[in-house]
Amino acid sequence: MTTTASLPTSIDATLSLLQSQGYVADRALATVLFLALRMKRPLLLEGEAGTGKTEIAKVLASGLGRRLIRLQCYEGLDLASAVYEWNYAGQMMAIRLAEAGGIAGDRERLESDLFSERYLVKRPLLQALEPQEGGAPILLIDELDRTDEAFEAFLLEVLADAQVTIPELGTIKAAEPPIVILTSNRTREIHDALKRRCLYHWVGYPDAARELAILKAKAPGAPAKLAKQIVSFVQAIRKEELFKAPGVAETLDWASALVELDAVALDPAIVSDTLGALLKYQDDIQAMQGSKVGELLDQAKQAARG
Ligand SMILES: Nc1ncnc2c1ncn2[C@@H]1O[C@H](COP(=O)(O)OP(=O)(O)OP(=O)(O)O)[C@@H](O)[C@H]1O
Ligand SMILES: [Mg+2]
Repeated sequence: MTTTASLPTSIDATLSLLQSQGYVADRALATVLFLALRMKRPLLLEGEAGTGKTEIAKVLASGLGRRLIRLQCYEGLDLASAVYEWNYAGQMMAIRLAEAGGIAGDRERLESDLFSERYLVKRPLLQALEPQEGGAPILLIDELDRTDEAFEAFLLEVLADAQVTIPELGTIKAAEPPIVILTSNRTREIHDALKRRCLYHWVGYPDAARELAILKAKAPGAPAKLAKQIVSFVQAIRKEELFKAPGVAETLDWASALVELDAVALDPAIVSDTLGALLKYQDDIQAMQGSKVGELLDQAKQAARG
């Protein structure tokens, strides 16, 4: 559903906007998001994998009824994939047709036609500068840490001026700059110059109460007792020495797996059989098998009762 809503006018309104889209935020996140919207600053979200960074941009777009434009970053991302490129095949065809039609003589007209919007392939950054129905779009620049520093420097320029220059066409400037959300898994540090432009928030693992609320919102099929035990177990396992601790995404996956198996409560056998939904490294799974599962389960059940 896309209905256009105006920007939230308070932290509480921001919280309920997120809540209305099934996103359970804590106050610190709602505050920084509210400020980013008010101050028209990009928001840089860093944090562990699967903690709901990407999801924030998605729910913001659906909650505000704005278009979501996503730039997925990767090593080697270049301007042709991020901003624009010319439709070379289309241009070649136009030249051939002009030649065949004997109108190739009008070179100037042909050239200006070849480098017009007609043959311009707009990539996410350029799309984000164009007016959209419902207001400025949400521009999600996802996993920025995967690109190189040269791209980051270019991005900084685009964000600062909300414009890009295409030599053959001129400068395209956004009438209303996009709402920008950047995410990073921190495989490398984002440059200070970019950070300076942004508001920053670290998205950590949720505490037990919030994780339970997330579970209720996203996996309503899980019986209440099971949900509590799942959360307590995940909270306990995150305290262990693991190569990769489970994120919220894994908690939700695990809950779905357990519901599929008609579990109503955790026991050592079912936990051992389904650990693969929670832990994704064989070393971690091995370390948690056997008596360790029982130990964590006792802890979790005690916490779930309390
Ligand atoms: N606070 C939350 N409220 C509701 N759902 C959440 C929340 N946090 C995470 N989720 C759910 O967890 C899943 C993973 O979230 P998401 O993909 O946004 O994580 P991420 O931080 O971007 O991870 P990665 O770093 O791996 O890209 C999604 O299905 C999302 O709906
Ligand atoms: Mg993500």
